[in-house]
Amino acid sequence: MERTKHKHLLFISSSLISYFFLLFALFISHQFSVANAQNGTQSTVRAGVLLDLGTSSGKRCKTSISMALEDFYAINGNFSTRIELEFRDSMSEVVSAASAAVDLLKNSQVDAIMGPLTSVQTEFVAYLCNRSQVPLLSFSATSPAISPTHLPFFIRANLNDSSQSVPIAAFIQHFGWREAVPIYEESEFGSGIIPSLVDALQSVDTMIPDRVVIATEASDDHIDNKLYRLMTQQTRVFVVHMLPALASQFFHRVQALGMMSAEYVWIVTDSVGDVLDILDPDVKNVMEGVIGFRTYFALSDEVKSFKTRFKERFRQDNPRSEVADPTIYQLWAYDAVWALAKAVEKAEVTNSSFVIPSSDGTSTDLSTLGVSETGPKLLSAILGTTFNGLAGNFRLVDGQLQLLAFEIVNVVGKGTRNVGFWTPDKGIIREIDSPNGSGNANNLKNILWPGDLVVAPKGWVVPTNGKVLRIAVPAKAGFGVFVNVSESTSEVSGYCIDVFKAVLSKLPYSIQYDFFPLSPSSSYNDMVYQVYLKKYDALVGDVTIRANRTNYADFTMPYTESGVSMIVPLQSDSSQSMWIFLKPLTAQLWLISLAFFIFTGFVVWVIEHRINPEFRGTPWQQFGLIYYFAFSTLVFAHKEKLESNLSRFVVIIWVFVVLILTSSYTASLTSMLTVQQLQPSVTDVSQLQKQGDYVGYQDGSFVKELLLNLGFDPGRLKNLTTADDYTDALAKGSAKGGVAAIFDEIPYLKVFLSQYCGNNYIMVGPTYKTDGFGFVFPRGSPLLQDMSRAVLSVTEGEEMTQIEKKWLGNSDKCTSSSTSVGSSSLGFRSFAGLFIITGSVSGLMLLIYIGIFLYREWERLSTLRDDHETPWDIIVAWFKHYDQFDQRSPTFKEYLRSSMSPEGSQGRLERQMGLEGSNSPGNRSDQSAEMSFEFSQGGITPLSGTDSSDISNRGPAEEIELAGQSRE
Ligand SMILES: *[C@@H]1O[C@H](CO)[C@@H](O)[C@H](O)[C@H]1NC(C)=O
Ligand SMILES: *[C@@H]1O[C@H](CO)[C@@H](O)[C@H](O)[C@H]1NC(C)=O
Ligand SMILES: *[C@@H]1O[C@H](CO)[C@@H](O)[C@H](O)[C@H]1NC(C)=O
Ligand SMILES: *[C@@H]1O[C@H](CO)[C@@H](O)[C@H](O)[C@H]1NC(C)=O
Repeated sequence: MERTKHKHLLFISSSLISYFFLLFALFISHQFSVANAQNGTQSTVRAGVLLDLGTSSGKRCKTSISMALEDFYAINGNFSTRIELEFRDSMSEVVSAASAAVDLLKNSQVDAIMGPLTSVQTEFVAYLCNRSQVPLLSFSATSPAISPTHLPFFIRANLNDSSQSVPIAAFIQHFGWREAVPIYEESEFGSGIIPSLVDALQSVDTMIPDRVVIATEASDDHIDNKLYRLMTQQTRVFVVHMLPALASQFFHRVQALGMMSAEYVWIVTDSVGDVLDILDPDVKNVMEGVIGFRTYFALSDEVKSFKTRFKERFRQDNPRSEVADPTIYQLWAYDAVWALAKAVEKAEVTNSSFVIPSSDGTSTDLSTLGVSETGPKLLSAILGTTFNGLAGNFRLVDGQLQLLAFEIVNVVGKGTRNVGFWTPDKGIIREIDSPNGSGNANNLKNILWPGDLVVAPKGWVVPTNGKVLRIAVPAKAGFGVFVNVSESTSEVSGYCIDVFKAVLSKLPYSIQYDFFPLSPSSSYNDMVYQVYLKKYDALVGDVTIRANRTNYADFTMPYTESGVSMIVPLQSDSSQSMWIFLKPLTAQLWLISLAFFIFTGFVVWVIEHRINPEFRGTPWQQFGLIYYFAFSTLVFAHKEKLESNLSRFVVIIWVFVVLILTSSYTASLTSMLTVQQLQPSVTDVSQLQKQGDYVGYQDGSFVKELLLNLGFDPGRLKNLTTADDYTDALAKGSAKGGVAAIFDEIPYLKVFLSQYCGNNYIMVGPTYKTDGFGFVFPRGSPLLQDMSRAVLSVTEGEEMTQIEKKWLGNSDKCTSSSTSVGSSSLGFRSFAGLFIITGSVSGLMLLIYIGIFLYREWERLSTLRDDHETPWDIIVAWFKHYDQFDQRSPTFKEYLRSSMSPEGSQGRLERQMGLEGSNSPGNRSDQSAEMSFEFSQGGITPLSGTDSSDISNRGPAEEIELAGQSRE
């Protein structure tokens, strides 16, 4: 019993002890693991590095990468991850690089790969990594052909080559070079820059007349051949994009062929620019004057300390290699390591595991490549990493490092000299931190160009060996004013030549040239074609800018006014001369004026008839009086004395209207008679076509094409050469073997008109638009831009006026008289206001008079109404009453008084006697006879009853009879 109890206790105690032991062990192990975590050796992340370890740049990058890793963990000692690098040699070869990459992915199962150095190697490795979803962090593959958008697992921690296209184009634009030739090595890397460079140059209007590809393993002869080709061309601006090794060889050849001399511009991209400082002094020697672009990085304290440490470390690692400063590639490699280390910690990458895809029977090396599980996480961590690296702010956008600035350097002596910068926002500037540094062209520091020049080359040369421009000029038979080639001396002169010389004098450089007169038989189209064939370097003359000529050559801006018009003879217009006096007024105005004359005469007669003896008489007399009075106002010759204020008012207004009418008529007639009454014989094109007339054009001119387009019958066109031909043909006329009109460009027509000023030709018809004369250059000629600009500055200047005066004379002096043919007739509209005034005044006065008459004579009129039955009789009676002399008017009384006086009575008797005796008006006026009769009537019988009104209405003969009766 006790034994079992004892056994029991023993068991319990031993269990307790072992329990405590276990606890202790757990505690110890826990403590141990904590210490391990703090020590940071717990999780290792493997990363592969592919480098051309045989090359010096590979060695330099290896040193830089190793230093980066050490520096990083020296600062970030408490990180829970450690990167372990596995270096592989890619042996400067694509296949080795690829197989090294496969080894890293398959056997080492790395979480990330850095490198390789060249774009060519990188491309294949990038595909492999993308397949395995392992981030490939590149710090030196610059070819834009490998793109992070296409391969998401490719990250470029350096600049893309295409980012320097815009700076290079800006630099070329800055110096106004119109053409540039890219020279690049035949590789993925070399051609990668071309698309973006072409775009950038195009956007600044710089042409790429040629491009030269140089094989990577080129012999000197190969390079020489390419250079000879360039030498014969006119472009002198070259953009060289190749790796430093080939570039050294290339520039040695350039120097050997004498192309590192005046007029040449050599620009190297950053692939050479970045390593300019560490290039062999030999190479720099032959590159003097070269412009280099290189990535800008600030020379911070970190960079300075890195430089010193780098050189020290490199000497340790590679005792037998030459030591040089680190370039931007080493800085990028350093920053890439830091970015990777930061990302690894952030992504908490613990243990890498690759998933091998299920085998589908094939078991090639690549098909069994696994897919990393940690890759995507690590990729997004790297893409999100930002920090201040040695090469500037490390920030990736779309898997691509962002550009800060480019530095522009000039190779001078055995070193380089900074001449300016380019930044994305400010363009080309002199100082990177100057606040007011704008993209001003003068902001660059002085550049020493090849051939020890300090003045920027113009970027092209005349390609021919003698460097003398061969300029074709049309040797015309007619219109020598424009271009005249003297037969004896072959001297070329004329308006176009003077303009050309003036334009050349505006160019910033001088140009040697010779004139080559072209045979007069060739048309202008042919001459343009000669330039197209490059037989001549330019064509200078009266060559019009035409759309289909520009298919063959380029034109400068036009320097003359433009357009095609026609000239026709003037003929005097004899048909109108007899009736010209009618022309000043339109027919409508004539008729309306006539109507108003009659109306006004009538109104005055109505108002005056009852009170004014002068407005009385036989109906014929009174009818005549109405007209006579009205028309005599035309010359203000009306003699009749007016008694009523109403009629005076009418006449006053009317005389005013007449005054204006007559003076307008006079003025218009005067102008018609003084202006030459010459009319163009033809006024429009359709008239010519309808009549089937012959028309002329200048020999060799495009005007013929224009006329055919207008629909003229080809058989009806005549080519004419000289201005004398023009006059002859126009003088003969279409019917007699001449022409009815000549079509030509306005400059010729103006010259013609000024020469034959007195001979009555006129330029008529529509102007067909053309573009004026321009100078012709072969397509893409670099001279063109400068010439065009110079043409504009000449045409806008004073010089042009002088040249025009000298050659073309003053053509305006003839045009003034011939253009203003005829003046238009005056219409009713111009005078409508006047007629309304006089019409309404006359009408109103007439109404007032009728009102007064009715009011005064109402009693009498009522009596008359009662005496007659039918309305007709009443109206007739009323009119008869109106016809009588108004006895109440002052004129009547005065007349009465003057008749009562002895003289008056004597005069009356005499008059009556005279009337009796002669039975005709005789010396005395009818009116006085009538008046005397009325007086006697009034004196003898009261003016009442039908008799007296009858009498007053009768003509002189009847009155005489009546007078006799009353005496009986
Ligand atoms: C980490 O462990 C190593 C040995 O593996 C030791 O030399 C080092 O002192 C330890 N560091 C810390 C901080 O404990
Ligand atoms: C490492 O130490 C620094 C302070 O020295 C601290 O700010 C940081 O958070 C630490 N990091 C980790 C991962 O413990
Ligand atoms: C790269 O990898 C991504 C994700 O796996 C895939 O969608 C894409 O098609 C791959 N690109 C190429 C060019 O293979
Ligand atoms: C322009 O077009 C016409 C036909 O419309 C043709 O006859 C002429 O040859 C062309 N000009 C040139 C320079 O080819």
